[in-house]
Order: sequence, then C-alpha cells, then structure tokens
Amino acid sequence: MKGLILSGGKGTRLYPLTYTRAKQLIPVANKPVLFRVIEAIRDAGITEIGIVIGDTGDQIREAVGNGRRWGIKATYIEQPKPLGLAHAVKISRDFLGDDRFVMFLGDNVIQGGITKLVQEFSDHPEWNSQIVLTQVDHPEEYGVAELDEEGKIVRLIEKPSEPPSNLALVGIYMFDHHIFEATDAIEPSQRGELEITDAIQWLVDNGYIVYPYIHTGWWIDTGRPGDMLDANSLVLEELEPKIEGYVDRDSEVDSRVTIERGAEIINSVVRGPTIIGHDTRIINSYIGPFTSIYHHVTIENSELERCIVLEHSVIENIPSRIQDSLIGRHVTISRSPIKPKALKMTLGDHSKVGIL
Ligand code: TTP
Repeated sequence: MKGLILSGGKGTRLYPLTYTRAKQLIPVANKPVLFRVIEAIRDAGITEIGIVIGDTGDQIREAVGNGRRWGIKATYIEQPKPLGLAHAVKISRDFLGDDRFVMFLGDNVIQGGITKLVQEFSDHPEWNSQIVLTQVDHPEEYGVAELDEEGKIVRLIEKPSEPPSNLALVGIYMFDHHIFEATDAIEPSQRGELEITDAIQWLVDNGYIVYPYIHTGWWIDTGRPGDMLDANSLVLEELEPKIEGYVDRDSEVDSRVTIERGAEIINSVVRGPTIIGHDTRIINSYIGPFTSIYHHVTIENSELERCIVLEHSVIENIPSRIQDSLIGRHVTISRSPIKPKALKMTLGDHSKVGIL
C-alpha cells in the first residue's frame, strides 16, 4: 500500500498567511499539519509516500526532505496548476502504479489516526475504494454521502439543499487502480477542477465497490483561520505536557503546558493547554489556554488567549488582551510611545484587524 498526500492548492481562504507560506506547513500545536499527516500515514504502516506539490513546492521539499526523519520515503509529484483533487490523483499514476493507496489532504487533521481504516481496506481486497465519512450538524455545508441498505455508497452530493444523510466526506480516501479509469473519464466541473466526488461517483456508477468508513472522533479541515484555531485547541488538549525550557520563580505555569527547549518564562502566567516553542521568551505576560507560540518569539507585557503565533514575531506592551488570533511570521505588534496617539499599521493584503 502507498500513501498520497495532497499538498498543492492555492490556500486562498488563509490569505495573507498563505501568500508566503504553504498552508500545510502552518503549525498546529507547534507541528506543521503536513508532518501530522505524514505521521498518521507512517503509523498505519505505509512508508512509500507521494506528495503532490504546487507553487509552494520548494518549501514543502525543504521541510520534508527525503522523509528519512519519519522512516518513510518521500516522492514529490509536481502539479503545474491546482486543477482539482482528482487531477492530483491522475498525475500521480506513475508513482502509484497498480498499488492500493490512501489519499490524504495535506491540510486535514484527524483524531486517532488512520490505522484502523487502512487495516479495514487491506482486509477487503474486493473493495475498490473506501471513503471516510463523519457525522456533521450541518450536512448542507459539506459533500454528503447516500448509502444503500447494505451500507455501500450510492451517491455523493456536494452541499445538498436536502441532505440524504448527515454523513460528510472527510479528506481521506482509499483507492485501488480503478480510480485512474475514473479520473480519465470525468470532465472538469463548473469551477474548472477535476472533482474527486465526481471520480468516486463514476466508480459507483460503473459497478465498482465503494464502502464508507465512519470516523467517530474529531476531524478538522484547516482551510480557514477559525478552523486552524479549532484544530490547535483540539490537538493541544491531547498533547503530553513537558517542561524543557526555563521557568523563573515568579512565574506560574499550570500542569497542561509544554515549554520547549531554550524557551524562557519570566514573571508570567501560562495556562494550559498551551505550548511555548523553543527559544521563545515570555516576559511579564499572560498566556491563556489553547495557545501555541512557535519558536523564536518574544512576548512582553502583553496578554494572549486562544492564539497561534508563528516564528520570529514580537508582541510588546499591548494594553488589551489578544484573543482568537492567528499571527504570522516576523510580525511585530507593539505600542509606540511616539505621538500622536494613534494606531499605526503595516498590513499585508487580506489582513484582518479587529479593534474595539
Ligand atoms: P482545498 O482546501 O480544497 O483547496 P486550496 O488549498 O486551493 O484552498 P482554498 O480553497 O482556500 O484556495 O485543498 C485541499 C488540499 O488539497 C490542500 O492540502 C491543497 C490540496 N490540493 C492539491 O494538492 N491540488 C489541487 O488541485 C487542489 C484543488 C488542492
């Protein structure tokens, strides 16, 4: 069995962060989402992994390398344009050959991994595909599956006004080589992409066997900033806390906090679940629950809660608490003593600032 991770795409919903950075490399609890995906596939016993890359391919190659760090062999597949999930499968044919494979969207985070799914698909060589589904409250906002009495998938519908079930498609799929017949046969959708739902529907319509796998834990597609913060909170709750950095006597750090090596907590309060990255300094500050501060960050005389702050940023002397925020790399947020007393900002395109 092989693995295929989709790590191209545009990431428009995460602008401005994704102007300069692959969205799959944005960390959740201080580990890039893509690394979590690689680990989930590796933990299911798959070591040959193809990674589909687009414009941000160089960053992905640099971050993952040959994959030896995870005990896997990474092969890169260049997608010239993000022409859809089924297009990504189509161009990966040489790498996949006739092997059965798991396809995993590189921006999805799933609780509990995929070991059971991979096992179930291996146990049923007569199945041509297996699709991960999960129960959602608003199926009309998702791709939804309709099952027959035997539990097989008969229909997939994108954002249905009258959903046939509350089972939505998660970004994880198992396929055998018949999927290439489907990706060759289907036409681009109205948005100009080869849709994976159309390819799966083609399999069903042409007599191939597609079964669901019902996932019961949480699952997050980190497409939008709010999803990123949700995923961060959920992963932080499962993190095994450890203190490798320095905490001075005047600080209060509760039991669900991870402090990475070289980090310093000076005269501050840190409430968990929270992670403070390596070589980051927290001085005279409050860091609230569900916060991930990445490496080489300085936070001084400020308060943060439920935030993600990326590397090399500086937050100083901010009078109000910063909450529910996603702050990029090399960002400075500070209070200036220079008159006039006014907000001064240099913001990239698509930045969002909320001021009370
Ligand atoms: P999406 O989130 O559907 O698309 P996107 O990354 O372009 O984001 P946005 O809608 O905000 O512009 O993609 C899901 C995953 O699949 C993501 O990891 C990117 C990847 N992908 C490809 O590798 N190739 C593609 O052609 C597409 C559409 C997505």
